[in-house]
Amino acid sequence: MKALILSGGAGTRLRPLTYTGAKQLVPVANKPILFYVIENIVATGIKDIGIIIAPETGREIIDRVGDGSRWGVTIQYIWQEKPLGLAHAVWVAKDYLGDNPFLMYLGDNLIGSRVTEEVKSFIEDEDLSAAIFLKSVSNPKAFGVAVIDEGGKVIDLIEKPEHPPSDLALVGIYLFRPIIFEAISRIRPSKRGELEITDAISWLIKKGYNVQSHIVTSWWLDTGKKDDLLLANDTVMDEWLTTDIQGIIDSGSRVTGRVVIEEGARIEQSVVRGPAIIGAGSHLFHAYVGPFTAIGNNVRIVRAAVEHCVIMEGCVIEDVPRLEHSVLGRRVFVRPTPRNQESLCLMVGDDCVVEIGRK
Ligand code: G1P
Repeated sequence: MKALILSGGAGTRLRPLTYTGAKQLVPVANKPILFYVIENIVATGIKDIGIIIAPETGREIIDRVGDGSRWGVTIQYIWQEKPLGLAHAVWVAKDYLGDNPFLMYLGDNLIGSRVTEEVKSFIEDEDLSAAIFLKSVSNPKAFGVAVIDEGGKVIDLIEKPEHPPSDLALVGIYLFRPIIFEAISRIRPSKRGELEITDAISWLIKKGYNVQSHIVTSWWLDTGKKDDLLLANDTVMDEWLTTDIQGIIDSGSRVTGRVVIEEGARIEQSVVRGPAIIGAGSHLFHAYVGPFTAIGNNVRIVRAAVEHCVIMEGCVIEDVPRLEHSVLGRRVFVRPTPRNQESLCLMVGDDCVVEIGRK
């Protein structure tokens, strides 16, 4: 069995971070979302993974992920020249996937559980043409929505319905047999101009093919916006972080709770309260880093307090009384203005948000 990861898309909801990088490479607890996806696939025993990439971000993904050898698998890249939809991406991978069942995984989806058992039972039950993963959500309008019977068989499926028939959203994980290619060849583009995988699965259901569902009982995080990203970070650090100190902590510092301090990081005259990660080569000096904070590589935090933040590589935070609930992209500087104390002095790119504390 092979797996197909869809890793194209513009990532408009995560702007401005995605102006300069792929959404699948945005870090959660200092690791790209895509790496969690790969690890979950590797855990099923699958050895061949195809990754669909788009012209805008494909190169960056190849450079970061490589040939799969670090996970003991073979990764091949398949270009999708235009963003014509998830079903179109599967169609583009037709030759790669061949005549076997396959696991399809959206590269920006994070779930708190393995899919090993579901993959196994799908392979065994040759009667199934497809299987989908579902999760009960409060905002089903934003997703593909399924109606299932008591046995979990899918009886209806609608993409982003105006009036959702249930609260069961399609998590971006699917299992298919090759009949899906016929289904894709029979559907037309949706209102958003894309070939929807949801419509292809609906076609299977209407033609009487068996489509089974699995309910995800662990968490599922759609890393769509800033608060979702912070929540993903909180959840992953809360559940999966274990203490690992590789860097240097001086005697004037205090580090408590579950904390990862990567190689070459230096903590001087500072306090770090876990769960927190300090990336390789980063330097804290007279700083406080509070719980649920992920600091990327080569960040400098000097005379500043940072809590509940995602700070990506190369940032510098100096003389800032308190920064919280914030996401900083790469190489961002936050420091006092040398001008009038009452004024703000900003240099920010498109679609940024600056929130200022009220007096
Ligand atoms: C896609 C699918 C949708 C699914 C969602 C999960 O939506 O079309 O059915 O519920 O992924 O993340 P999109 O992210 O393309 O809007």
